[in-house]
Amino acid sequence: MPDSPAQTPADILPAAFVAALREAAGDRAEAALAGCATAKQPSFRANTLKGKCGDLVRELREAGVPFTKHPLSDWSFTTTAEGEVLLKESVAYKEGRLYSQGLASQLPALVGPLREGDKVLDACAAPGGKAALLAMRLGEGGAGLTACDRAPGRYGILCHTLKLMGAAKARPLLCDMRTPPPQIADRSWDHILVDAPCTGTGTVRVEVRRTWEHLGIDYEAYVESRARIQLSLIERAASLLAPGGTLVYSTCSMDPRENEAVVEHLLHLRAPLEPVDLTSWSKRFGEAAAPGIATFRGTTYGDFTKSCLRLWPTAAHEGFFVAMVRRRK
Ligand SMILES: C[S@@+](CC[C@H](N)C(=O)[O-])C[C@H]1O[C@@H](n2cnc3c(N)ncnc32)[C@H](O)[C@@H]1O
Repeated sequence: MPDSPAQTPADILPAAFVAALREAAGDRAEAALAGCATAKQPSFRANTLKGKCGDLVRELREAGVPFTKHPLSDWSFTTTAEGEVLLKESVAYKEGRLYSQGLASQLPALVGPLREGDKVLDACAAPGGKAALLAMRLGEGGAGLTACDRAPGRYGILCHTLKLMGAAKARPLLCDMRTPPPQIADRSWDHILVDAPCTGTGTVRVEVRRTWEHLGIDYEAYVESRARIQLSLIERAASLLAPGGTLVYSTCSMDPRENEAVVEHLLHLRAPLEPVDLTSWSKRFGEAAAPGIATFRGTTYGDFTKSCLRLWPTAAHEGFFVAMVRRRK
């Protein structure tokens, strides 16, 4: 919460960030700022690579863990702060039969069609929460999934996550996705996730200074530098899609220059791509879900923004952006 009752989130957070958020969010801005000042309800998902969801539910009930099913997916649940402590002490947690994961953070790995036998690439995978969910959706120990990251320390965590979550047949790979190694650099991927490095403005928590103090140095330059990396990652990833393949792009940033602008660029650069509508997912999140932003600082984006999904931060989840495109056959 703010330091004193007189201070609002907008008084405390870096001014350039607040200004950009207000311009992007319009009449949702004050609610989004309030969402930055709220602790998130803890959530988790069952891991069916390691056991049946029904068995986990029974086990947690017997252990006295409070939890509620969430409509996001068959495997998604919310709990309380006390429940989260119990969960993290549970055998199921230690054995990887559940994964503590924000609701918004599950979404990019839930959208898009996955069939057994598909080749799936997670381009920016560490620490591995979404990769493990993709592996679970593929089944068979995550056979067909390749999960890449370029940061050696984070890559170690990714390997650990995949192992713990039973994704024994998934292939972790330490590489820079802007210059992918020959073993993955072909146009053969049925589904690609680019959960890009970003400014992280959707995860800002007013009372946790380290989540936003870096935004106060030079916000505009920071956004621009992230957008450059995002564009090169998404462009390279799109070049690897098989005909008919789908690419999901996501960030935990609220700034349109890291989101709608990046997807717009991609659609201009790569003609055989078409947007895929994700808005049907919004009803699983309620009022904080919205389509993409149409206009920001004088730039009007294309019609594709109507098919993107934005989650503004609330007490239930962080801020997120998700878009999907398909390569025409
Ligand atoms: C938002 S995080 C990914 C979180 C992850 N998808 C998850 O759900 O656990 C972005 C990741 O991209 C990685 N990254 C940044 N630049 C990259 C590049 N050029 N190639 C591959 N990975 C990169 C970072 O090391 C970081 O782990």
